[in-house]
Formats: sequence, structure tokens, C-alpha cells
Amino acid sequence: MAQYTSASTALAVIRLRNPPVNALSLPVLQALEDGLKRADADPSVKAIMICGENGKFSAGADIQGFSLPKTRGISLGHFVSLIERCEKPVVAAIEGVALGGGLEVALGCHYRVAHVKARMGLPEVTIGLLPGGEGTQRLPRLIGVPAALDIITTGRHIPATEALKLGLVDEVVEENTIEAAIRLANKVIGQPLEPRRLSLRPVPKLPNMEAFLSEALVKLKKQARRYLAPELCFQAVRAATELPFADGVRKERELFNVLLTSGQAQALQYAFFAERAVQKWTTPHGSSWQNASPQPIHKAAVIGLGTMGRGIVTSLVKASIPVVALEQNLEYLNTGRKAVMLLLEREAMKMEQGAQTLDFHNPARLQFTVDFDALRDVDLVIEAVFENMPLKKEIFQKLSRICKPAAFLCTNTSALNIDEIASATSRPQQVVGTHFFSPAHIMRLLEIIYGHHTSPTAIATAVQLGKVLKKVGVVVGNCFGFAGNRMMFPYVEQAVFLLEEGSRPEAVDQVLEDFGFKIGPFRMSDLAGLDVAWRSRKGRGLAGDSVPPGTPARQRHGRRYSPLPDLLCENGRFGQKTGKGWYQYEKAGGRTAKPDPWLHNVLTQYRDTHHIKTRFIDQEEILERCLFSLINEGFDILAEGIASGPEHLDVIYIHGYGWPKHRGGPMFYASTVGLPRVLAKLQRYSEAHPDVPALRPSTFLKKLVAVGNPPLKEWMSYLSRPSNKL
Ligand code: 3HC
Ligand code: NAI
Repeated sequence: MAQYTSASTALAVIRLRNPPVNALSLPVLQALEDGLKRADADPSVKAIMICGENGKFSAGADIQGFSLPKTRGISLGHFVSLIERCEKPVVAAIEGVALGGGLEVALGCHYRVAHVKARMGLPEVTIGLLPGGEGTQRLPRLIGVPAALDIITTGRHIPATEALKLGLVDEVVEENTIEAAIRLANKVIGQPLEPRRLSLRPVPKLPNMEAFLSEALVKLKKQARRYLAPELCFQAVRAATELPFADGVRKERELFNVLLTSGQAQALQYAFFAERAVQKWTTPHGSSWQNASPQPIHKAAVIGLGTMGRGIVTSLVKASIPVVALEQNLEYLNTGRKAVMLLLEREAMKMEQGAQTLDFHNPARLQFTVDFDALRDVDLVIEAVFENMPLKKEIFQKLSRICKPAAFLCTNTSALNIDEIASATSRPQQVVGTHFFSPAHIMRLLEIIYGHHTSPTAIATAVQLGKVLKKVGVVVGNCFGFAGNRMMFPYVEQAVFLLEEGSRPEAVDQVLEDFGFKIGPFRMSDLAGLDVAWRSRKGRGLAGDSVPPGTPARQRHGRRYSPLPDLLCENGRFGQKTGKGWYQYEKAGGRTAKPDPWLHNVLTQYRDTHHIKTRFIDQEEILERCLFSLINEGFDILAEGIASGPEHLDVIYIHGYGWPKHRGGPMFYASTVGLPRVLAKLQRYSEAHPDVPALRPSTFLKKLVAVGNPPLKEWMSYLSRPSNKL
């Protein structure tokens, strides 16, 4: 709805009302139109102000509404034009957010006043769309093509101060925005409106417009990787530079409809709601976000300043949480300190107001130590030492003795059993997994793992910590590899099996990169370091001296196994760090991967030795075996109650594993492929490779197909009683 009131006899106020973010649903827009007509018809009204309820202007069109057929075909532009054509001055009072259609409504107004804390933007591109309320035509006319193109193609939110500099708003106020807008409205009564109607303005010229646009397009295409929206946003803005306003609007509508009906927009809108859904966590024991409260974290500690620890410290400092950073000895401490300081310097430079906002030179905010006694007063500890169970247990036992009883003890283990780690303490209810992703100060995913004894308060505190660190926290149960890595294992396994059977790293990577992954499995493995998984395999008795004599080279525990990655490690090929892995690099630490004839020869010899008949493997098989085995594991995870819904797995993959967001996540992708097809393909591959359990279709997947392939949001209702492995 939109509420019509008067601030004085001369000033009508139209307040957009649709909690929580005043999304522009059809009833809101119709009420806005009614308000405009009423103000127009009332001769005593001399000016109009549009604002939003509850300190928010509007977050734009109702995203839920895009999936409802009845709202299709209603153009927001119609309402924006109505505002602009109004014969009485219309002032937008922008508080909170004016995003997407919300900003387009403000662009239809003749004047804009914003609160200093307001944020504005056209984030449609992030949900697979373009601004479809004539924003692609008005914004370039107001602030010029370069700034408009940046805002529209990135979807970034801009603060009010920047909006003022760009000329997007006329005034920024620190106090009452509504009063400031009323003052401005009274001041402009009677002034000519023609120059304020953006549709009548020309797009400001650039001396080198064509060259600028060509360059921008090349850059966009490089980044977009089959993601349609940025390029169509670009085309709409280009139309503004080439066509009269009305024709530009027609072009915008045409492009908007292409995107609206694209699978990509549906996937991205699904991802938008999935990210919000996972915040409402539940466990099979009945604890949930509704019945658990987080404890405040005034001070934290991080143990181990290696690859992960240094990023975690950086994240905490950035969130203004005082940190104690602890290492095993002075040598490691100094190396860790230097690395943390370097990261913080870089982050400070990236931050808007510069280094002053990151108070990391103050020992009260960031303390480096080798003394566990320094952890006595912290509220939460994050352990990030080597992936080694005895070491982790030793540390947790020590923490349990030293830290205050209320302190939470978190582990950054990537796969180990949370319950076993917790068993070393006298407070297993305070132990929780906080699995960050590398680089920890950049990657947004935080997998939060509860063990058998973890209290709801500990889960809620970890979730709250994730929010404070600006991460996307996803709560999952405890099993080897948790949700993310457990699904990754079969994916990587298939990639290696494909090499055995005749493919090459570059061919497999290409297929998955074409699908939209930032890097394929072999480039990823070279980046992360092959030695990490090798150590883990040796620890689990799969590789090295602990393998019992007489074990067939390509079999472990009756299942197919590939010793190829072990072979590379035995040759000192750990990936980028050694300059050689699945690819060769210009030097140790180099980043440019080149196909390596050495590896191709080794593959040929390997196939000969093991009598594997080489065959040509097409792209479809590469894609399906890698992705469907990963998805298959996802169905098992759901059936076991490790994750409480497919959205959780999708959010994990989008934010932790570089899954292309415009494909919605692996489980969403499976729903678009169709579960019967996924099942049929898995059955076929499983028959061809009976010794590969990961290809054997999950019972839950089979059940969903048997009940008629229901939509993703109904999947969980087919699990009669979610069993929990705990
Ligand atoms: N439509 C429908 N629901 C919306 C919405 C929208 N545009 N924006 C937010 N919501 C819902 C969320 O789903 C959430 O619902 P829930 O409480 O049931 O989970 C609730 O509003 C609160 O949202 P957040 O949890 O995200 O709250 P925050 O305070 O963290 O963030 C926000 C607020 C910055 C406004 C953020 O919600 C956001 O970015 N919203 C989307 C903005 C956007 O993409 N707008 C463009 C829409 S498309 C458009 O306008 C097309 C036009 O050009 C034609
Ligand atoms: P790392 O080897 O880079 O760093 C580990 C650090 O712990 C070293 O600096 C070491 O000196 C320190 N350490 C060892 N024993 C210690 C002790 N007794 N007291 C204090 N410090 C001690 O390891 P990395 O990669 O940072 O991994 C840490 C943890 O994070 C592991 O559990 C790993 O599985 C997990 N993880 C790693 C990821 C990665 O990509 N590297 C991703 C996600 C989780």
C-alpha cells in the first residue's frame, strides 16, 4: 500500500508501505498512482513528497512477484513516468535504501533528498535482471554514462555521500530527511519543472563515447563468463546513448523480458531467497534460530597463523573484534605476524576511510603471543592449526583448562570429527566447528558445524559471529568433510578417473569452466596444493607406507582408487607452490597454468601399465560425471539430516566453491536438469563403473523420482523422519 497524507495544506505526502522493505508490489504501485492523481486533482496541493515507511524508501520491485505469472507485463516504468509528468514538483525523501525499482521511482521524482546513511543502487543485475523501470535510460541522463554503467552493471550499493558527488541526489542530510524534503518542496513550488524531468534531458556526451563503450564491453564480457545480465545491462545503457528516450525505453523493456524469462534470473532469484532462508537455521533436535540467543563476543583468539589463521585474524580485526593471535613458537609467530600485518595494510587501503578505521597497531586490539595464558579472558577461540587429530585434541584440552568456562571453542578443521575434538574438553557443549574458506578474509562462506553436544547457544553465537564478519553462515551437522567438502570429494574423484580413462586436465577444467566455475578441479587442486589431500590420504591409510602390502594399486577397501595424485606428489609436484602439479607454471609460486607434456607422457605410461584402454571422453560425460556425483552426495546429505534443505547446499557451493551463481547451486541445477534425467545418467554411469560407490544413485534421489519429480521446495517433505547421523 501507499498512504496518502498531508504535511500541510500545500504538501501531499505519499508514503510507500509494504514491510519489511517497502517492495513495490502491484497494490503499492496502484496506491502510488491513486495518490498522485489525488494530489493532482487537489488545487490546494502545490507539491508532493514520496517517502517510505519505517525509515526505508524502497528495495524495489517485489522479487517474489517475478515468479507469479499474473504480475508479468506490468511495467514499473508506467508509474515512474506518471511521477515525472506530474505538474506539481515531486520530491523523494530517501532514507535507508532506495534500490532497484525504488531508485527508479526516485529518478522519476523532480528532486531527491537523502539521509547520509542511505544507500542507493540498481542491483537488478545481481538477480539476473536489468533495471526495468526506465532506470537504464534516466540514470545516464542524470549522472553520465561511465558512472551509470558502473552502477547498473555491478549492482553495487552506493552511499549517500557518493550519490551527492555523482549528482544522483540534490541534498544529503544528517538529521530528519522528511523535514529536509518538506523544506525543499516548499522552496521549489512554482519553479519550472521541465529541466527536472530526466527523460527530456540529453545523455551527457563523452569525447570518446564509442571507444569508451567498446572497452567497457570487452571488460564486461571477460568477467561475465556466460552470465547474461551484465551484457544486457550494457546494451540498455548503450541504447540510451544512441536512441531517443522513448525508443531507449522500448529497448530496455525488450531486454528486460529476455532476462526475466531466462533460467539465469530464476536461478539468481532462488539464490537471493536461499541466502536468507539459511539464516533461519534448525537442527534435527529441534533447536533453531527462534529458540537460541547468541552470546556477545567482546574478544576472540585465533590459534595458528598459517594460511587460514592469518585470514581469520584479518576478518576479526576488520569487524572491530579485539584478537589474541597465538602461534607455536616465536619463529612461526613472527612469520604469522608479518603476514597478518600485510593483509591488514592491504585491507586498510581498500577501505573507504583508510587505515584509521582499522586499529591494528594497538596491542589492545591485536595481540601476538606464544603464551596460552593470554587466552584467559577471551569469549571465543578459533583453532586453525594443522589438520591433525591428536594435535587438535591436545590444543582443545589445554583450552578447556585455560579459557573461562563461558568461552566458546571453535575449530576450523575442514573434515575432522567435531565430537572427537570436543571429547578432549570438559565443555563439549561449547565446541562448534567454524569452517572458513581460503582466503578466509575474502571468501564469504562460513560452514558452522554442530556436534552431538553443541549447545544451541554455541550455534547461535557462531551464526552471529558469521554475520558480524559479513559472512554467509550455513549450519550443518557433523560428518567427514561436513557438507561442502563431502560433496567435493566425489567431484574431484571423478575428475581423476576421467584422466585415467583418456581425458586430460585441461579438457576437464575447460568443461567445468565453460559451465561457469571460476576454475576447474585440476587448476583448483594446483592452487590449493596437492600435498594437503596427500597428507590426509596417508593419514587415512589410503596412500604411502600405511597401505597394506598386496593392496591392488587401483583399489582401496574394495572400491576403485586412483593413485595418480599420489604419483604426482611423490614426484614433488604439489601444484603452484612447487611450479608443477597437474600443469606446469613459469616458476614456483607462478600462476599461469600451461599443459605439461611430462604429465601427458605419464598418463600414457600409466594407462599402459594398468591396461586401461584409452577412449575419447566427450564434454557431456565429463560434466555429468563430475556434477552428478557431487549432486548425488548432496541427496545423501539431505537424507541423513546433515543439511536441513537443498538451499543450504546451494548457498555453500555458491559462496565456498565458486559454483556459478547464475546456475543457482548444485541442487537447484539438478532440479532444472530434471531429477529423472540425473537418476538415469547416474544409473548408466554406475553400471559402467560398479566399483565407484559415488555413482550409485542415492536412495533419496530415487524416491523423489518415484514420487514424480516434485519441485525443489517440496523435497524435504518426502523425508518421512529426517534421521540424524549424530
Ligand atoms: N522483494 C521481495 N522481498 C524482499 C525484497 C524485494 N525486493 N528485498 C528484500 N526482501 C525481503 C527479504 O527476502 C527478507 O525476507 P524474510 O525476512 O522473509 O527473509 C526481508 O525482505 C528483509 O531482507 P534482508 O534479510 O535482505 O534484510 P537486510 O536488511 O539484510 O537487507 C536489502 C535489505 C538491502 C534491501 C536487501 O534485502 C536487498 O538487497 N534486497 C533486494 C534489492 C533488490 O535486488 N532490488 C531490485 C529488485 S528488482 C527490481 O526492482 C526490478 C525493477 O527494476 C523493475
Ligand atoms: P597451515 O599449515 O598453513 O597453518 C597451520 C599453523 O598452525 C602453522 O602456522 C603452525 O605453526 C600452527 N600451529 C601448529 N601447531 C600449533 C600449536 N600447537 N600452537 C599454535 N599454533 C600451532 O594450515 P592451514 O592451511 O591454515 O589449515 C589450518 C586448519 O584449517 C586445518 O585444520 C585445515 O584443515 C583447515 N582448513 C584449511 C583450508 C585451506 O585451504 N588451507 C581451508 C579450510 C580449512
